[in-house]
Amino acid sequence: MSSGMWAEKYRPQSLNDITNQTEIVSRLKNFVKDRNLPHLLFVGPAGIGKTTSILALARDLYGPSYKSFILELNASDERGINVIRDKVKNFARTAAISSEVPFKILVMDEADSLTSAAQHALRRTMEIYTRTCRFCLIGNYSENIIEPIQSRCSVFRFSPLSEADAKGWVRNIAEKEGVNLIAEGLDAIYEASTGDLRKATNLLQAAAATQGGEVDDIAIYSVLGRVSPGKVRQMLSLGLEGEFMEAREMLRTLLIDEGLAAEDIIRMVYSEVMRLGIPERQKVALSDAIGEVDYRLTQGARAEIQLSTLLAKLALVGDE
Ligand SMILES: Nc1ncnc2c1ncn2[C@@H]1O[C@H](COP(=O)(O)OP(=O)(O)OP(=O)(O)O)[C@@H](O)[C@H]1O
Ligand SMILES: [Mg+2]
Repeated sequence: MSSGMWAEKYRPQSLNDITNQTEIVSRLKNFVKDRNLPHLLFVGPAGIGKTTSILALARDLYGPSYKSFILELNASDERGINVIRDKVKNFARTAAISSEVPFKILVMDEADSLTSAAQHALRRTMEIYTRTCRFCLIGNYSENIIEPIQSRCSVFRFSPLSEADAKGWVRNIAEKEGVNLIAEGLDAIYEASTGDLRKATNLLQAAAATQGGEVDDIAIYSVLGRVSPGKVRQMLSLGLEGEFMEAREMLRTLLIDEGLAAEDIIRMVYSEVMRLGIPERQKVALSDAIGEVDYRLTQGARAEIQLSTLLAKLALVGDE
C-alpha cells in the first residue's frame, strides 16, 4: 500500500483516461484537436471530474510542460476580487510563450462562491484578457453564476458517475493497492459517496490504513463516523446505566472537542444500539427514539440538545 493521497495518485492525466462523462470528454477533445478553446463553465457536484477534466485537457493541449500554461485559483481561498484581479492580470498579460497554442488557461475553482459584484468584476477581466487567456470557471451550481458570465462560456454539466462506474473505479484502486475490499465494503463506500470519486477513494484509503486485513462495511462506517465505536459504546452504556451526566459529558467531547457531525454520531449510535445485548423490546424503543432525533436534526434542530434527549431516553429504557 502506498502513501500519499490515492485520489491524487490515480487522477487521470489525459482526457482519454476519464471515466464516464463521455459526451463532455468528446467535446473537450474537439477543442484540443482544434487547438482552440472558448471560455468554459463546468458545473456539477463534488468529486466527479471537473478539475480533473480541465487539467487533463491542459496536458493534452500543451504537453508535459502544461503547468506553465495553466493557473488554478480557488475563489474561496483568495481574499477578495482585487487579489484575484491582480493574479489574473499577472498571469494573463502575456501570451503563452513557447507553445504553439496562443493562449493560457486560468482555472477559477468555486467560482460560484463569488459575490455577484465580484463576478461582474471577473467578467470584465475575462473580456480584457480574452486574447491571451481562456477562463475555466468551476462551481457546483450554475444558478449561482451570473447570466453575463454564463452567456460568455460554453457550459458543461457534469453528472455523478453511475453506480457501476463508480464501483469499478474503487475496485480498480483497491486491486492496484493490494487492498482486500469485500463486496459489503464496496457497497458501503458507494452508499456513502454515491458518485463522488474523491470521497470514495479517501474512504477506501482511510479504511485500508486503519484496517489490517479486509475492508468491509464495518470498517467503512467506522471511518465515516471518524469516531471509535468504543467511545460511542461507552457513552451508550453510561446512558443505559443511568449515568446521564457522564454520558452527556462524553457526548460533548465527541461533538465539541472532536468536532464530529451529529449525523455521524447518530449513525454510529444506531449501529451500536443494534449490537447491544439488550432485549428486543428495548431496541425497538431506542430505534424509534433515534429515528425521531435523526429527523429533528435534518430539520435543523440543535445537535447537542437532541442527542441529549436521546441519552435521557436511554436512561429510561435502561431502567425498565
Ligand atoms: N470522471 C472521473 N474519472 C476518473 N477519475 C475521477 C473522475 N472524477 C473524479 N475522479 C477522481 O476523483 C478525484 C477528484 O476529482 P476532481 O478533482 O476532478 O473532482 P471535482 O469534480 O473537481 O470536484 P470538486 O467540486 O470537489 O472540486 C480525482 O483526483 C480523481 O482521482
Ligand atoms: Mg474541483
